Amino acid sequence: MLTPPQIAFFKVNGYLLLRQVLDPALCARARDRLWEALPEGSTMQRDDPATHTGPFPEDQQSDDPLHIRKGYLWQLRECGTESSLIDLVYNRPLCAMAEQLLGEGMLAPPKVGGLPMGSEGPAWPGGPTDPAINEGIRGIYCTRPYRANEQRKPDYGHTDGHPFNLGMVGLIHDVPPDGGAFKVWPGSHRRLYPTFQMRYDQPRIPYYRHLPAFKGIIHSPAYQSELTRIMQDTSPVDCWGSEGDVVLWHHRLVHMAGHNYSGVMRQAVLYDFSRTDLDQRRAIPPGEDMWQDWGPQVHAAGSDYPEALAMEMRLSPMESPLPA
Ligand SMILES: [Fe+2]
Repeated sequence: MLTPPQIAFFKVNGYLLLRQVLDPALCARARDRLWEALPEGSTMQRDDPATHTGPFPEDQQSDDPLHIRKGYLWQLRECGTESSLIDLVYNRPLCAMAEQLLGEGMLAPPKVGGLPMGSEGPAWPGGPTDPAINEGIRGIYCTRPYRANEQRKPDYGHTDGHPFNLGMVGLIHDVPPDGGAFKVWPGSHRRLYPTFQMRYDQPRIPYYRHLPAFKGIIHSPAYQSELTRIMQDTSPVDCWGSEGDVVLWHHRLVHMAGHNYSGVMRQAVLYDFSRTDLDQRRAIPPGEDMWQDWGPQVHAAGSDYPEALAMEMRLSPMESPLPA
């Protein structure tokens, strides 16, 4: 269970690193499911880590939104509504913690045998896959290690454009620092929350082939300038960890998957916790109180937490954001 200081930390910083929350046997089963899905004849071999370094060769790439293998990304979504994956993620301890944040009895459960993410193709031609068209977990998301001579790329975060309440990234294999586990920008949820027009949704311009300049999600100028400031004044936290570790994150927190310079393939499961009232709340404007749609324990929490907790969450004391 989450302690009051952990809930306070979540309010102020928008994320929580939690150790050993996923069942090891189910993590192993998820890894088996992943590798069994790799087509025969692939040059990448499970038992030979030297072959895990990316990218996928041209003739082994796939754009299938249910099973993407492209560049350094390997994303298996077709398994997202299978019971072993849902049992892994929607487990009792994790749901209890999500309920502490979102309110008891407020979680909309995933559906075993339902529609996995990617079933209806990309959101627009050539665009990303909409994570909201999904009745299970997002899937098993891997980042193959970059080649040793790969030039280091700058970090740049984003917020997700689909409605949900609480994000979760769970490691199903150890991910060392700098291994692309997940990166978050502490405190960015509070700065960006008021810049959205709608509480959970985002306006989208439809894609027209003959009018190609604008397509997809629209961000307000206030959002764009605040995101630029966040990139300049906030250092991201690298959520590396061991098999079974989890990061919970606020739906407006800036994040990125992270570059993988570790030599070890990043293997993670992603899930979006949603409240049962999300459909009623998604298009109304952001509230005066950004915690209106959260549970009583979040309402009751202050903004104080011990320095030891901040260190455990890898937040540098110099970079602690102002209290909520
Ligand atoms: Fe994202």
